[in-house]
Amino acid sequence: MKIGTGIAYTIGHVKFRGVMKVLVVGSGGREHTLVWKLKQSRKVDKIFCAPGNAGIDQIAKCVDIKSDNIKALSDFAHRNKIGLTVVGPEVPLAMGIADDFQKRKLKIFGPSKAAAQLESSKVFSKEFMRKYHIPTAPFRVFNMAAEAIGFCKSAEFPLVVKADGLAAGKGVIVVRNIDEATQAIETIMSKKVFGKAGNRILIESFLKGQEVSVMAFVDGKTTIPLLSSQDHKQAYDGDRGPNTGGMGAYCPTPFVDEEMMEEITDRILSPTIKGLTEEGIKYKGVLYAGLMLTPDGPKVLEYNCRFGDPEVQAVLPLLKTDLADLMMATVNQKLESFNKISWEDSSAVCVVMASKGYPGKYSIGAQISGLQPSKDNQCQVFHAGTELKNKKWLTSGGRVLGVMGKDKNLKLALNRAYRLVNKIRFQGASFRRDIGFRAGKQIT
Ligand code: AMP
Ligand code: GLY
Repeated sequence: MKIGTGIAYTIGHVKFRGVMKVLVVGSGGREHTLVWKLKQSRKVDKIFCAPGNAGIDQIAKCVDIKSDNIKALSDFAHRNKIGLTVVGPEVPLAMGIADDFQKRKLKIFGPSKAAAQLESSKVFSKEFMRKYHIPTAPFRVFNMAAEAIGFCKSAEFPLVVKADGLAAGKGVIVVRNIDEATQAIETIMSKKVFGKAGNRILIESFLKGQEVSVMAFVDGKTTIPLLSSQDHKQAYDGDRGPNTGGMGAYCPTPFVDEEMMEEITDRILSPTIKGLTEEGIKYKGVLYAGLMLTPDGPKVLEYNCRFGDPEVQAVLPLLKTDLADLMMATVNQKLESFNKISWEDSSAVCVVMASKGYPGKYSIGAQISGLQPSKDNQCQVFHAGTELKNKKWLTSGGRVLGVMGKDKNLKLALNRAYRLVNKIRFQGASFRRDIGFRAGKQIT
């Protein structure tokens, strides 16, 4: 048990002093990173993770409750006097987990169901951006495939076709001609490859530029941006191949200097929160803006209502401010008291190691060797899809591990991460060898 720091907090009618218990909801590399970082907090006594994974189980207590079982999660938080629940994935947020916890006076880090629509409905988010003049690509909404195809016949290519609802990052298709457009529209709207998520689609103009991810702590009044990062969505080197959940990330990016961050805050983050407030929606949690830095300035590609994965695996290792403090301040609407958060003057990268076949059909059950407990915080292996059976580590998912390295600069951080990647082996392991390659490139 750590020594209490004297902070006081209440859960329902119960008053606590000093350290608190935290529940992290989710089971991937993002949640492993959150648990790892929260464990470094002097305010956190014990961490539970529901349902967690085998890697998380090494450093926290995993609880067998699925992340979409909101009733069981709030019962658990209530019963165990959890001081703060942190939600990793979007699905429980879109289902209204934050509303449910708040009704029971349980503290939760994550936006309400209404606020989560920024991610759960692309039509909602684009119409919101149009209404509040937040820069984004011009778009049209369609309910009927034939109408959408008719529109494409006279439109300029390339275009981007997007399913309205949640599709695990896979419901976006860039099309270069009418044949590809027709195929994409039919895949989403007629074949319903993404289910109900494809009842409506958006078609928008293709934006050119550098893509960056900017996340911010938001408490409904105050917005504090985190360092910018860049994801690598395609499966293969050189940004080729199919889209994945993300094959690696690095932080910070050279494209977002202080001036650009100010522009992003003034033109995108602040107007987003102001717009939500005007809609009667209070946003508390992390707001993620996926941006294209175009020659006409930054434009929003998408919002997420949670930490990006794998970006978080490269961003949080550089955070010096206590994460639990920041999260509690967000939940209690006290972010104003943090003028600035402090960061290590270093770079961090995350290289994702995936199973053979990912993001398509992949195999699991391969034995993993070379997983040593890390001796310092300069390197860390975050688990996304592993299992521990008879003292042997096995693969159990598409994305298996996120290997993080940090050092004085990007090159050294990459060296560290790849040295570790090269020690870890499993049959069919695939990973990109070029994480960070865009850092040296100018906007095209
Ligand atoms: P989204 O889920 O909307 O962020 O889209 C997934 C990915 O598709 C983005 O990370 C971009 O790489 C790409 N993308 C989405 N919208 C556009 C756009 N309007 N122009 C260019 N690329 C886009
Ligand atoms: N890396 C993008 C996402 O988390 O959606």
